[in-house]
Order: sequence, then C-alpha cells, then structure tokens
Amino acid sequence: MLKVEWAPLNVPLHRRLETVAAAVEMFLVVLGNVAALIVFAILLIKGNTFIRVLCVVYLGFLYIDRDAGENGGRGFGSQWFRSLTIWRYFRDYFPIDLVKTVDITADQNYIFAMFPHGILSSSAFANFNTNYSKWKTLFPGIRSKIMTLDFHFYVPLFREVVLAWGMGSCSARSIKKLLLQSNDINSEENKDGYTSNAVMIFIGGAQEAAYCHPRNYTLVLKKRKGFIKIAMTTGKSIVPCISFNEVDIFDQPANPPGSWMRRFQDYVRGITGVTPILFNGRGFFQYTYGFLPKRRAITTVVGSPLIVEKNENPTNEQIDKLHEQFCEHLITLFETHKAKYIEDHESVHLNII
Ligand SMILES: *[C@@H]1O[C@H](CO)[C@@H](O)[C@H](O)[C@H]1NC(C)=O
Ligand SMILES: *[C@@H]1O[C@H](CO)[C@@H](O)[C@H](O)[C@H]1NC(C)=O
Repeated sequence: MLKVEWAPLNVPLHRRLETVAAAVEMFLVVLGNVAALIVFAILLIKGNTFIRVLCVVYLGFLYIDRDAGENGGRGFGSQWFRSLTIWRYFRDYFPIDLVKTVDITADQNYIFAMFPHGILSSSAFANFNTNYSKWKTLFPGIRSKIMTLDFHFYVPLFREVVLAWGMGSCSARSIKKLLLQSNDINSEENKDGYTSNAVMIFIGGAQEAAYCHPRNYTLVLKKRKGFIKIAMTTGKSIVPCISFNEVDIFDQPANPPGSWMRRFQDYVRGITGVTPILFNGRGFFQYTYGFLPKRRAITTVVGSPLIVEKNENPTNEQIDKLHEQFCEHLITLFETHKAKYIEDHESVHLNII
C-alpha cells in the first residue's frame, strides 16, 4: 500500500479553482458521452410535453446535421465556448504552454502530427481546443482543429460540446475536406477571418495511450502511414508536434505487450476504438489516488513543416521514404528540445514502434 500524501489545508483559492477546472474537464472527456446520453434519455422519458417536443426536434436537427463531424466540424468552433474562464484555470492547473520553432504561414493547410497521445491528451486540449493558449498569437490566421473518433459526433448534446471545441472527425473524408479547403480570405468558408486549417491528428491514437507511462515516450508510428499518403496525395506539409511531459501526469498499472491486461485492452479497443485504462493521478485532498491529473508543467513544441510534394499516385516505396524522413524529423525535434523540459533527459529518447 502507498502512504497517502495529504494536500495542505491553506491552498489559495485560485489553486482550488484550477483543481475544479481539471475535474470538470476530466469528467467531460472521460464520461461526457455517457452522461449526455443519460441526461438526454431522462429528458425524453421524464420531461413534460414541452421538453419532450424539444428533444424530438433536437433529434431531427441531429439527423439533418449528422455529417457535421465527417465534414470537418464547425470551422474554428464556438469562440464563446472556447473562451470560457474555466479553460484558463485548466491550463494553469498544470500549467500548459505552447512553443513554436518556426513561423507557419496561413496561406496553406497543414497536417499536424501529434505525439505522444498520453492518456487523455490534456495539453492538446488546453492548447488547441480553447482560447487560452498562445496559439492565436503564435500562428495567426490558422484554425487549430483536433481530429477525434467519429462516434462523438453522434451522441446527443455531447456532440455540440465537441463541435464547439472546434473538433472534427478523424475519418479520411473529414481530414481531406479540411486539407483541401480554400485559403482565399474571400471564400465562404473563411468568413470567420481565418484562412488556414491545422488538421491535428494523434497518429498513435488510442493504441499509444496503452504505452503511456511516466518518462516513456513510446510512439505507435512505424506502421502508421495513412497520414503520409494523405499528405502526398493532397501535397500538404506535415508539422510534427511533441508535448513534453504529457506522459507524466498519470500512472497506469504495468501492462507490457503480451500481458493479460494489455490483451484485454487491445480487445476492447478493437471493438470500441477506445482503450480502457485504469489511470491514477491524484485526488482533491490528497496526492496519492484519484482521477485528477498530477500538476506537472507540459510544453507542446510545434516543429517545422516537412514539405511534401504533391503526388496523386504515390508508390509504396515513395510512401516508405517520406515516412522515414518524417520519423527522422520527429526524432530531431525531440532530441533538440528535450533538455529544456525533461529532468535527467540524457536517458530519455523516443521509442518508435
Ligand atoms: C480570445 O483570447 C484573446 C486573447 O487572449 C482575446 O483578446 C479575445 O477576446 C478572446 N476571444 C473571445 C471570444 O473571448
Ligand atoms: C517503455 O515502454 C516500452 C513498451 O512497454 C518498453 O519496451 C520500454 O522498455 C520502456 N522504456 C523505458 C525507458 O522504460
């Protein structure tokens, strides 16, 4: 048994609010789907006539709007929702920071290849789903758009939250649509004043989450080449992004490949797309057990675009070559910046599998 380490009693108010914000975000990300379904079912079954009519009208809207995620989401999301103060407290809980290595121009669209997934991609949430990161000042004119699992866009009520964050489906159709969007300021799609999309994909996805252990940067990338092919066929640059210390905010029980735990996780992921993880961070009043992440500074470093020449019919050899080039580019980014963010960094390297 671990010895429980209690939080001091005299925690300042802003720290308490940060903890509440982290709890709300965790609740939405982990249980938002299920909670929304339950709330909607209760309203539909137990509500008065007016509420039930509203629910049915909403279901009609959902049907008409069912392709919203597949079509890349709703632009840059809801600026009102992304600007709620709670997200600022969430950012400051860790705190989470964003750094750029080169300027990226808003005259074209990009694939942002994001690593590592971590358990719940908390830094990506703060940096790219909210208005409380340096994104708008570092990358003016570009929409940050995280691609997520398609089923989120079919859950009543919760889908509105996901769309308000600015997210889109990670299907090939949605990614291609965003990549091929016009960069002309006068076009209909750009009437929000932005002219470019950063299409953010967690290449390792849910599978990578199962490898997330403190100080371990195991990336599921070796066989993932779909994004390389999409980059080639559309001729869009690939920008690598690394979130340093994202792997440190939760623990999970040992689950080496081949163990019964990992086999169970892979089995559930095969059916649902989501990896079940017994993650442990800290609680409200103690630092030993609980579903809250640990307070740990996370910095997302955005690398330089790897320029991709358009090639509508790339051969397997051409795809493999660009994939190899991208892996080298990613390793260089990690090795160049790790000393600034990782303690005892000499022994920490990317483990690409
Ligand atoms: C987003 O943040 C910027 C700078 O932090 C601020 O100027 C702007 O008003 C915010 N947008 C909204 C809709 O609150
Ligand atoms: C990271 O995890 C992988 C896969 O579970 C394991 O093979 C590797 O040894 C770990 N690396 C470190 C530095 O702990």
